[in-house]
This record gives sequence, structure tokens and C-alpha cells, in this order.
Amino acid sequence: MSLKVAKFYKKIAFRVILLYTGIIFLSFLILFFMVYSFFEAYLDNRTKEQLLEKAKSYKILYKQEKLDGLLKQIKKETEILNMSDQFFKVYKDEKEIFTVGEFISIPLKEVIDKKPDYYLFKTINNYYVLIYKLSNRYTLVIGKSTFSNNKLLNRLQDIFFISSTITFFISVIGGLFLTATITRKLKKISETAKDISSSMDLNRRVKTTGSGDEIDDLATVINTLLDRIQILVNTIKETSESIAHDLKTPIARIRSSIENAIIRNNMPKECSDLLGYVLEETEIINQMIADLLTISKIESGAYKLKSEKMNLSESVLKLCQLFKDYGTSKKVKVECDIEENIEIEADPKLLSRAIANLIDNAIKFNMENGKVMISLKREEDKIVIQIEDTGLGIPEDKIDKIFEKFFMVDESRSVYGSGLGLSLVKAVIEAHKGQIKVFSKEGEGTTFKVILPVG
Ligand SMILES: Nc1ncnc2c1ncn2[C@@H]1O[C@H](COP(=O)(O)OP(=O)(O)O)[C@@H](O)[C@H]1O
Ligand SMILES: [Mg+2]
Repeated sequence: MSLKVAKFYKKIAFRVILLYTGIIFLSFLILFFMVYSFFEAYLDNRTKEQLLEKAKSYKILYKQEKLDGLLKQIKKETEILNMSDQFFKVYKDEKEIFTVGEFISIPLKEVIDKKPDYYLFKTINNYYVLIYKLSNRYTLVIGKSTFSNNKLLNRLQDIFFISSTITFFISVIGGLFLTATITRKLKKISETAKDISSSMDLNRRVKTTGSGDEIDDLATVINTLLDRIQILVNTIKETSESIAHDLKTPIARIRSSIENAIIRNNMPKECSDLLGYVLEETEIINQMIADLLTISKIESGAYKLKSEKMNLSESVLKLCQLFKDYGTSKKVKVECDIEENIEIEADPKLLSRAIANLIDNAIKFNMENGKVMISLKREEDKIVIQIEDTGLGIPEDKIDKIFEKFFMVDESRSVYGSGLGLSLVKAVIEAHKGQIKVFSKEGEGTTFKVILPVG
């Protein structure tokens, strides 16, 4: 599960959604701050204006009915209207002579020597406070709690929080929806490309929709690339096939000439020995040509498998017995663990040749008193042939190359051989829709695992 999550982080869909949601969220945040500051400033101003209006109306009253009239009016108003969020104070010089509501000390220093009608706004202990000079000696102070304004601003914050959460989910769902179409198309292309590369079926192509968008362009480019690869591969195959064909006849001629010369027996022994050696070498070249031809035919699909129901257990057992003697001559012990009666639909000649090649390698690249373990068993719907040796092993950086044509880890190691054996094995196993895996540690040994489908 965590692996899936980790994979999702790397996906384009995730990055697009992240970017998309991020942009929406940021725009939302900017909008919120603008609305919030505008609203805050508006409420601030409105409260101040209200306070000033009130102070001015009190000033008129003060002028008409003097201080007593004003104080009576304030008392009356506060009693009737129950203004619990406001307070009123009147100072004579710096002395408080009247107060209704909250007890808050007000610093009057700044206004004490100012002229009548001078006013000043302050925020003290969560109160908007207006200090208003009624006359040279009397100062009126009106306070209004910031509570109701804060309540409105908090409400705005709540609305923002809820709507941003909703927007977040909508943008994630929207993002998923938007990217799903694109990633689905990309996934289809990459899956087909992967299939083509693993099956090496160069006749296949990625589907194009003809929509003309970037993804369709990509599919077309991949198809053009596949066309070129197919042409190239076919040319290589045809060339190697025709070279092999063309070599066959002159080699046959050389062989028959040498054979005739040897049969005539009218030359010194050294010469006939040398010719005998040349004959052996031409036989190796012949074998290489035959192998090359077989490999390219199998790889190109031109080779028709002569499939039939065969008893694989019996075939592998036969090979085991055959190689046991060969192993003894090389001081290598060959052990077999063959499950009985395993049957398979296959080309008996080719498959036996492939397995023989693997056993031959296991003995050839072994050490004195080494071991080779051959096993055959059925695992669910698969047949597994394993050839394990305690030989020289293959260096890690060469493992990927051993199935290439003519590749040998160390040519001096190979007493005889052409480097074609494993290419043939791989071609044969894959023609049977099987798989071949290799595990090796230099100096410790090598295991080849052949997995074949039962059918
Ligand atoms: N069982 C093995 N142990 C160590 N090396 C191996 C083994 N099988 C194959 N190799 C290496 O892979 C190379 C290619 O094998 P192959 O194609 O059979 O060629 P060849 O047997 O003609 O040398 C060999 O030359 C050898 O270096
Ligand atoms: Mg070999």
C-alpha cells in the first residue's frame, strides 16, 4: 500500500493535482485576505463614525442643557437600551466625575490641553474608545466593545474555512477527472510499448486515435520508431542469414577438397595431420553457421516449431545420464532430481538441445571436483528446469550480455565454443513462450532457471 502511495507521488496526475489545487487555494487565500481586510477596515470605520456621531449629538445636548442634562440623558439611554457593550465617562480636567459601564482607565494626557471638539480614537482592552473634548475642562469618553465586529470577522473566517475545504475537495476531484483522461491514454501507450519490447513482436503498433493532440503525436512517433527498428532488425537478420547461406557452399567445397586430399594419402604425415585439424575447424564453422541460421530463423518466426506432446521427464533424464559420463571425465559430479511424468507440448529436438547446452555449460565452466544439479519439477501451471553448478560463475557486469550472440566472458576460459549456445537457448525457450533466468556469483557458481508453460 505504502509503495502504491510512494508511486503515486511520482505520477504526473499527482503533480498536476498538486499544482492545480495549490493555485486555486492560493487565489482563494489572496481573495480571502482582500475581503477580510476590506471588511475589517469597513467595520472599524463604521464603529468610529457611530461613536463620533454620538459624541457630537451629546455635545449639542451639553450646550443646550449643560452637564447635568447630558449626564441624565446618558443614564436614561443606557438604562432603556441596555448598552452592555458600551461605556461612558465624563472627566473634569483629569478627574473622572461620571461613569457608566466598564471600568477602564483612560489616559487623558494627550487631550487635556486641547481645544473643545478635539477628538481622538484609541483601542484599549478590546474597546474602541473615543475621547472627545466637550469644553476646555470637560472631556467625554465613549467606548464600544470590539466584540460584535470580531464576531462578524470570525464568521467570515469560518465561511472561508468551510468554503476552502469544499473547494479543496472539488479541485482534487476535478484534477483527478482532468488528469485521468490524459494519464489513461499515456498508460495505454506505455503498456503497449512495454508489451512490444518484452515480446519483441515488432509487428505490433501503438494505437493512434487521430485526434491530433500531443499524446496522439507521441503514439505516432513511437510507431515511426518501431517501423525503423523493424526495418533495421529485418535487415540484420536477412544479412546474417544470407552471409550464413553464402558461406555454406564454399565451406562444403573446402571440406570435400580436404577430404579428397586426405583419402589420396600421398602427402607427408605432418601435412595430413594439419589438414585433419583444418577439417575439424571447418566442422566447427559449419556448426556455427547452422546455429546462426537456426537462431535467426527462430527469432524471426520463420522456423516452424515441430511441436508434439513429449515426456519431458524422460528427455531430461536421458540428458542427465548422458552428461553424467561426460562430467565424470571432467571430474564434475552431475546430480539429477527429476519429477516423473511431466509432459509438455514442445519441439523435442530443439528443447533437448537447449537443455543440453545449459548442462554442457554447467560442466564446461565448472571446477575440478565441482557439482552440477539438474532438477525438473512442476510448480502450479509452470514447469521449472533448473541447472545449478558450483563453477566459475559470471561477473555481475557481464550477466546481461551472456545471451548475446558470440559473447564469451573470457575466451581463454572456453576450451571450445562459439558463444552462440545461450543465444540459441534463449531463442528456443522464448519460442516455447517460456522464460530463462540466471543467477550467478563469481567464484561460487551459476543457476539457470527455465520456466515453461504447461500447455
Ligand atoms: N554455467 C556457467 N558458468 C559460468 N559461465 C557461464 C555458464 N554458462 C555460460 N557461461 C558464460 O557465458 C558465455 C556464453 O555461453 P554460451 O553462449 O553457451 O557460449 P560458449 O559455451 O560457446 O562459450 C560463456 O562463454 C561463459 O563465459
Ligand atoms: Mg555453451
